Amino acid sequence: MKVKVFQDAQSIAEYTADQIQKLIKRKPECVLGLATGSTPVPTYREMIKRYEQGKLDFSQVKTYNLDEYLGLPKENSQSFYYFMWENLFSKINILKENTHLPSGTEADMESYCKVYEKQVEQSGGIDLHLLGIGNNGHIGFNEPEENFSQHVHIVSLTQETIQANKRFFENVQQVPRKAITMGIETIMKAEKIILIATGKAKAKAVYDTISGPVTPWCPASILQRHKDAEILLDLEAAALLKDESINC
Ligand code: PGA
Repeated sequence: MKVKVFQDAQSIAEYTADQIQKLIKRKPECVLGLATGSTPVPTYREMIKRYEQGKLDFSQVKTYNLDEYLGLPKENSQSFYYFMWENLFSKINILKENTHLPSGTEADMESYCKVYEKQVEQSGGIDLHLLGIGNNGHIGFNEPEENFSQHVHIVSLTQETIQANKRFFENVQQVPRKAITMGIETIMKAEKIILIATGKAKAKAVYDTISGPVTPWCPASILQRHKDAEILLDLEAAALLKDESINC
């Protein structure tokens, strides 16, 4: 994995948008894997800016999101569906039918997991997957546990994740306890992965991801085994790393 440290979140956003711009130029019908949360917001803003400047054309791009809370309808302002339309899709020329998020409101969620897994598979493969990382090392909603997960599945969120995400809700009781997420294997199939971490709350998870053993107790550590994973950090998120683990 390549580890790059930047001055700030905006420099990371510009670098990431550069990668997306190159990909779309090379392959206008490319498939992007997308994430929600605070971390990718500067990148989404940069993508919107470049679209407005005529530098990015999303008319053939397809997207697949990582995860969604269980039980929140699309119209709920805390759903990831709502987030993606608010922060990106409604502001660029992507076709609605080319955007895909797992649904958290199906009657039979277990069977629906297989449907979403198949949809991702039938996309022809994700060319570039953006990821954030949880304070506990989760990617998507793959929480620390005994084994790496494989396919799209339902998870119970850990107390740490519930606490970390309560800032988006009126109170902690409102944070859903379950979610649907791509599995680790689903994520690892992406051609290229960019994981972004910013802020000091992520420093320990970043250290474990890069310098610790590959273990499902730090799900992001699996990226050590990916053929093309870049970890982009701001100074605070990189604070615990030794210089030799940084590539530039
Ligand atoms: P954040 O979430 O970007 O809001 O910090 C990241 C994550 O939980 O994966």
